[in-house]
Amino acid sequence: MLDPESLCAQLLFWYDRHARVMPWRVSPQDRVEGVRPDPYRVWLSEVMLQQTTVAAVRDYFHRFTARWPTVADLAAAEDAQVMGEWAGLGYYARARNLLKCARAVVADHGGKFPTSREGLLTLPGIGPYTASAIAAIAFDEPATVVDGNVERVISRLRLVETPLPAAKAELTALAAELTPTQRPGDYAQAIMDLGATICTPRSPACGICPWSHACAARAEGLQADLPRKSPKPDKPTRRGTLWLGHSDGAILLERRPEKGLLGGMLGIPGDGWDGQGGPAPAVAAWQEIGEVRHTFTHFHLVLTVLTARLDGPPTRGDLIPRQHFRPADLPTVMRKAWDLARHTLGD
Ligand code: ADE
Repeated sequence: MLDPESLCAQLLFWYDRHARVMPWRVSPQDRVEGVRPDPYRVWLSEVMLQQTTVAAVRDYFHRFTARWPTVADLAAAEDAQVMGEWAGLGYYARARNLLKCARAVVADHGGKFPTSREGLLTLPGIGPYTASAIAAIAFDEPATVVDGNVERVISRLRLVETPLPAAKAELTALAAELTPTQRPGDYAQAIMDLGATICTPRSPACGICPWSHACAARAEGLQADLPRKSPKPDKPTRRGTLWLGHSDGAILLERRPEKGLLGGMLGIPGDGWDGQGGPAPAVAAWQEIGEVRHTFTHFHLVLTVLTARLDGPPTRGDLIPRQHFRPADLPTVMRKAWDLARHTLGD
């Protein structure tokens, strides 16, 4: 088995030639020249990348940083504007925590991110993974960064057959043994890039992998079978209703409560989707126009969509003139309902 220093050197040699170009990343060449990453951009990218791919994040990242170039700009933004820009990225609690975190950095840290993993962990929405990633990438602290890519790489390199999620602690300990004190930021990004581009889930490209000679799973021909995963419980299906009311070129929308699913997002009034049913937001001749489906982390959701022309005032929500409404501000499930219903709105 190769010593950690040699493994790190080989991975960094590969990274120096093959690092992916990302809008928040300082290339290994620039890093040598002394260019330092902007902690704000590193933090924003890491929050966006949780449960999302680099490809999906790129445009969001550009829009956010064009509109709010610094953490102070973001801290001063209106909640609704930030939730609107986040729409489509999913996991909306992350966007609410993003704002809380930006405001805490400004209010409690003079507009500068804490420079240690410990300090970062005190901020809202920054958990162990994100704190390690920012500490390593932005501040070159030798923190161990373990995301899904790293779990896969380590489980193969060290032939860990324990299934996930039980294997997490073991994989983190093995990853920590490799984490270097030299160039820990580049190393963290290198191992994530290796997992994303070479040590991929189904057919890893072992022929061009800098660690293939040291890979214990490859020696046994098991690389494509790792990491093993415990079966996930089936997701239940929940059902509910959305009422899309319209009147004289305006549509009825409501800001969802802060807590709970799609919290703080703009939405089409619904019944809570908890099996309780719930009142429509106005008395009207509601017509069913179809169904939309969407899958969340823990359940599938099937929503029946109804529309009606409103003659009287609604009991909740606000009538928003069509020209002031950006469908892009809606979370994806609501966008699906809007796309289904928009052609049927007669006025
Ligand atoms: N996935 C999450 N953060 C990443 C990063 N900084 N580099 C590569 N892949 C990542």
